[in-house]
Amino acid sequence: MTTDRAAVLAGLGAWVPPRTVTNDDLSQQFDTSDEWIRSRTGIATRHFVDPGMATSDLAVEAGARALKSAGGPAPDALVLATTTPDRPCPGTAPDVAERLGLGHIPAFDVSAVCTGFLYALATAAGLIAAGLAERVLVIGAESFSTILNPEDRTTSVIFGDGAGAVVLRAGRPEEPGALKAFDLGSDGTGVDLITVRAGGSQQRSTGLPAALEDTFFSMQGQQVFMQAVLRMSASSRTVLDQVGWSVEELDALVGHQANLRILHAVADKLKFPREKAVVNVDKVANTAGASIPLALADAAADGTLRPGQKVLLTAFGGGLTWGSVALEWPELDLA
Ligand code: ACO
Repeated sequence: MTTDRAAVLAGLGAWVPPRTVTNDDLSQQFDTSDEWIRSRTGIATRHFVDPGMATSDLAVEAGARALKSAGGPAPDALVLATTTPDRPCPGTAPDVAERLGLGHIPAFDVSAVCTGFLYALATAAGLIAAGLAERVLVIGAESFSTILNPEDRTTSVIFGDGAGAVVLRAGRPEEPGALKAFDLGSDGTGVDLITVRAGGSQQRSTGLPAALEDTFFSMQGQQVFMQAVLRMSASSRTVLDQVGWSVEELDALVGHQANLRILHAVADKLKFPREKAVVNVDKVANTAGASIPLALADAAADGTLRPGQKVLLTAFGGGLTWGSVALEWPELDLA
């Protein structure tokens, strides 16, 4: 950020839909087992939306909690990261803003799959730095279960639904909670590694009906695994260099909760102790754009994240996309 105005973390909230799905539940539907899922991914449970529940419903719940946590004036912008909008058109954010009673503020979606929340955070920080907003509600919300292929055991066991949100307010770069430095990137040569092939202009312009499997999420798991480790560790290093923190000084690493093995591999590559990597993938699985704020909310609630700690957030997702940001953890009133 080039100005002396900074975006400062002022509120945090999260929500997951009530339905819990265990590995044993999934073993009834797929040729899989609790042992396979735990050992390959670290996941024990996840939450799925019930029929009729949409991403906006999750976003409203998490957003309301973040607003309560922040207190103070209402936000003057809303940025929503999601891979699973309520509809292909329009964006989901205006409906969420309306339902939160935020009036006619600018509200729009950001699409960067599992990196979406960090892209949304950077966008919100940019609105604040440019003087276009004083307070921004940033939400990551996903109903990822709605795009999973019921024939594909590999993807169906690793994702979950949920939402997390933060409030950013205008402040000073030296304040606790100020977002200190971002690294963001993309590599479109990997567009096919993480994708829903049908439903967009590329398929619809053919005039042909979509093949059923193309309407669902698909992923090249092993290549994604390697890219995730490479990109998150490199991006983390870039941000650490920018803020001048050594790995030894870092108190907590909040990585995109894709898979426990990925979180450990990123920590290993950074020579950062695995036990200081924040983990909640065991409870919520990979919630894509909701993953980072859900992990923050859990870690703040259980005391893992404490005021004054040096914290690094890093994510990787479809696109391919990646991003990281550093901050000193502030005092927050958790709703
Ligand atoms: N249960 C049992 N066996 C399974 C399952 C399952 N649920 N899924 C796959 N297998 C089998 C495979 O068929 C394969 O069998 P085979 O050896 O007989 O062919 C075997 O397990 C090993 O399969 P791999 O794909 O090699 O398994 P891997 O150890 O790579 O784990 C996984 C798969 C968990 C998907 C892993 O590759 C991974 O975590 N990838 C990254 C996911 C990720 O990071 N996503 C984040 C980005 S996604 C986004 O942005 C939305």
